[in-house]
Amino acid sequence: MNKLIIFCIGMLYMGTAICQPIPSIVGSDKEVNPYQYTVVKRGEFKQAAVSSAHPLASMIGAAIMKRGGNAFDAAIATQLALAVVYPNAGNIGGGGFLLGRKTNGELIGIDYREASPEKSSRDMYLDQQGNPQLNLSQAGHLASGIPGTIAGLFATHAYAKLPFEVLIQPAIDLASMGYVLTEKEASSFNSVKEFIAKNSTTPTVFDRAIRWKVGDTLVQKELAQTLIRIQQNGAMGFYDGKTAELIVAEMQRGKGIITLNDLKSYTAKLRNPIIFNYRDHEIISFAPPSSGGVLLAQMMKMIEKYPVNKMGFQTPNSVQLMIEAERRAYADRAEYLGDPDYWKVPLKTLVSNAYIQERMKDYDPNKAGTSTAIKAGIIKETEETTHLSILDALGNMVSVTTTLNGSYGSRVVVGGAGFLLNNEMDDFSVKPGVANMYGAVGGEANAIQPGKRMLSSMTPTLVMKDKKPYLTIGTPGGTTIPTSVYQALVNIIDFNMVVGDAIDAAKFHHQWLPDEVFVEKDFNLSTKLALQKMGYRITERGGIGRTEGIRILPNKRKEAAADKRGDDSVAGF
Ligand code: GLY
Repeated sequence: MNKLIIFCIGMLYMGTAICQPIPSIVGSDKEVNPYQYTVVKRGEFKQAAVSSAHPLASMIGAAIMKRGGNAFDAAIATQLALAVVYPNAGNIGGGGFLLGRKTNGELIGIDYREASPEKSSRDMYLDQQGNPQLNLSQAGHLASGIPGTIAGLFATHAYAKLPFEVLIQPAIDLASMGYVLTEKEASSFNSVKEFIAKNSTTPTVFDRAIRWKVGDTLVQKELAQTLIRIQQNGAMGFYDGKTAELIVAEMQRGKGIITLNDLKSYTAKLRNPIIFNYRDHEIISFAPPSSGGVLLAQMMKMIEKYPVNKMGFQTPNSVQLMIEAERRAYADRAEYLGDPDYWKVPLKTLVSNAYIQERMKDYDPNKAGTSTAIKAGIIKETEETTHLSILDALGNMVSVTTTLNGSYGSRVVVGGAGFLLNNEMDDFSVKPGVANMYGAVGGEANAIQPGKRMLSSMTPTLVMKDKKPYLTIGTPGGTTIPTSVYQALVNIIDFNMVVGDAIDAAKFHHQWLPDEVFVEKDFNLSTKLALQKMGYRITERGGIGRTEGIRILPNKRKEAAADKRGDDSVAGF
């Protein structure tokens, strides 16, 4: 029976009957050619658009919508494609958050964040002296939470139109036929292949004696087989049967703790989004267990009463105001935010006007604020996490951020199954006051507990203007995610920038601890000097985020933009 379905599905992309043969969209002579493609940074499309971290994934999302799928279908197909062509963050071994708005106004928040395994415990990363062993929370088998992505994609499918079997086929094709690497991908594989070889217990496709180079083809046969099992058996093709057995066997070989029961009992959850107004725009973002929506609401409401536009784009005054909002919001993150199913998050208060105004009472426009000096780590520059934004012809909006946490996650490939596992356990607070890989600290609210979901910074966001769909936006970047979305929105709303300029503009980031401001290399030099004079410690770092945004223009066309910082690319029609 399965064989017949696959045979039929292998040839079909649309149509009401599952066995109606329709040509595949992936191939050297097909609409999506994995051996020849180009990065497209900006585009204006009449009907539908996708912006994601990889040109092939964006093209697949657009092709699915062309064939009758809606934005939710495209979100599923694009994420699955990213799991093949963007293995450092696209994933089936990680988790994410989807925020959607249907044309009828219904808001959908799907939480498929990884969960802590049943054998996990609060102090599992402390040695006998109570010292944190961050090498264990950040890499290797013990670093992984129970993957949520496949459960999330099936939860998303409730809002889609095409059969799941159809939506997964392009990813199967990409994995089995292979795809050609860009220069950035080849260099990324070269920088990580040794770590993957060291952490994995079986040979992987990333490992080879010679260096990867642009134009090489990556074929992932084991991953293709895993995707086929999901195509044939649904979510149970991942959480049960052969794939689950391979995950558990990998865990046993590498002294990890995820069990078959952990996998079988994982479920995606629906969450009510966070909604707030900013200068006549309605902003919708993700609630805990992501900190993203709370941080975004706090930061934007803190600056709303100030004339940001008059202060000028990235002048010392406007940047200082925005930094001080960042500082206050991130201080709250460390204290109050965690998985609401395990910790009472004072959500209403945190986003209430009265509380937010109170927080800015001690803001001094002439002087740098200070954060309590406690130990905090250094922000690392990795291309962790990935975001996709989608708008369809009907007006459905989707914003998805998905992650393995660090670049290539735990750097463990599941033997025989061909996909990378996350290192999301590091997003928990392994010990109060001890910084994680992003320098973020936390306490009891985000302590490890079996079943609990680790606090995230992912901020998939939608914006309504005049009660109509306006913008879908989001970004990777660990703790810099909320500040990147915040700055892109201020650039669009306060400084009237087009989406591409708003996301490409130099960024700055403050997260309370460490008490310093991180700026990109192209950040305005005179503003930097003026901030230093006020007392800010400024540290230059590599690119912040890779933001993808799509806006609906007054003439209804879709203005899509992909971040300049990577191979990010738009597609549409
Ligand atoms: N792992 C990055 C985040 O969820 O914020």
